[in-house]
Amino acid sequence: MRCFTVVYAAIVAGGSGTRMKNAPMPKQFLPIGGEPVIIKTVRAFLSVGRIDRVIVGIKPDCYDYTKKLLEDAGCGGVLLVGGGKDRNSTVKNIIDEINSRFGIQDEDIILTHDAVRPFVSAEIIEANISAAAEYGLCGTYIPSADTVISSQSGAFVDKTLDRRTLYQAQTPQSFALKKLFEEMSALSEEQMSSLTDTCSVFTRKGMGIRIVPGDRLNFKITTDKDLALADALCRNT
Ligand code: CTP
Repeated sequence: MRCFTVVYAAIVAGGSGTRMKNAPMPKQFLPIGGEPVIIKTVRAFLSVGRIDRVIVGIKPDCYDYTKKLLEDAGCGGVLLVGGGKDRNSTVKNIIDEINSRFGIQDEDIILTHDAVRPFVSAEIIEANISAAAEYGLCGTYIPSADTVISSQSGAFVDKTLDRRTLYQAQTPQSFALKKLFEEMSALSEEQMSSLTDTCSVFTRKGMGIRIVPGDRLNFKITTDKDLALADALCRNT
């Protein structure tokens, strides 16, 4: 039995990108600054020395395409795993693969990250590793810059929320791998798909998640406008 920590980066790229209109392929494969989004994201993790292994979850029918993209970009050591029908199922498939290939030890850490957040910084990744090692569970958050309201009807405001206590969730969300494996294995398929992020696996049970400060640049590419913004950012930096 080994007794050293392995830090895994699980990059989830198994989505369809239905909110991106008229795209020829899922948004994680579209180019920004002349390079596919997914390659930029993978490179962000490969450039951090404390990450031991990068694993990408993709739709099974994208396997050959993604493998070639990674090889052409010089990222051949990255492991590919078939994704699931929702984001958390993709995370679960990656964890199951880690368990069967390498085994899971008490000290192991996993960072889970959206493939479509290519501007994640080395500082945020490092801070996630440190917080996951110290607290077991952490996520990346930014204070809400805008006032947030709630509305049941979508036409009229019900309530203005107290901005001082509101944060927006980003990724990475990072965990003691054994804890995540145990909690996710206990979830039903229905629970798995209804939880919108991986931290919710723990917040639903009242377990504390350490807050790691995020960055507005670590935004998620969701729509055509986000993609245009990401492309402009790549060209101007
Ligand atoms: N994701 C995944 N497996 C799924 C669904 C989503 O790995 N079955 C990943 C996406 O590839 C993305 C991240 O989870 O990197 C966040 O997904 P999001 O953008 O919210 O969903 P998409 O399915 O990609 O897009 P849309 O909701 O517009 O269809």
